[in-house]
Amino acid sequence: MKRLIKILALILVAVLAVCAVAGCSGKKTEKSSEKDSKKTIDYLVLVNKNHKLPDDWEENVVLKEAENRYGEKYLVEEKTLENFLALQKELADEGIIIELDSTYRSVAEQQKLWDDWTVEYGEDYVKKYVAVPGYSEHHTGLAIDICIEKDGKRINDNDEMIAEEEIFEEIHKHLADHGFILRYIKNGVAITGYDYEPWHFRYVGVDAAKEIAEKKITFEEYVGHLKAGK
Ligand code: DAL
Ligand code: ZN
Repeated sequence: MKRLIKILALILVAVLAVCAVAGCSGKKTEKSSEKDSKKTIDYLVLVNKNHKLPDDWEENVVLKEAENRYGEKYLVEEKTLENFLALQKELADEGIIIELDSTYRSVAEQQKLWDDWTVEYGEDYVKKYVAVPGYSEHHTGLAIDICIEKDGKRINDNDEMIAEEEIFEEIHKHLADHGFILRYIKNGVAITGYDYEPWHFRYVGVDAAKEIAEKKITFEEYVGHLKAGK
């Protein structure tokens, strides 16, 4: 009996020693490993027809849930959401209502969008406006498609939004102050790969957004200049 107690005591001491070295003390471990596993994301990540979403992106991005005025819930990268809410408030003070209409999309959700739109609008139209799954900026959580509300009516149809030139011109003036860029500019298809999308905003941070707006360049050109050390 004495021998058994001695063995059990030795096992207990060994377990405690291993835990002390590994720092495994219950709850604290869960929290710290959760925190440690999230790395800083690159707010200047380039995702387009030629650049796929980085493989480790999903495990490092922190997404927050937000609800729009229509009761729809969306996931948005945390800093992007914070800045969007500030932009939304600033515009509301001017009487312009913008809302979340599409934000983070998983690769599977992008595939569903691609399939649904192909049925509804045909392949040519889809290729113009929808990225191939895996190559959409929406996978990053840093891209937001907005809708607007005018005279109490929600406008989120692409053609109807493009027709609202005056409202979008005013909205676009506020983007850079909150770290957003208009990602798919007019006549930019040769560089960006997509036609004009006045509703698609991308969070890049204030410094980059201001430089891109001032120089009137695309994000592809901005990233190209950075790489070239210009
Ligand atoms: N509408 C943009 C291009 C996307 O699907 O990511
Ligand atoms: Zn979009």
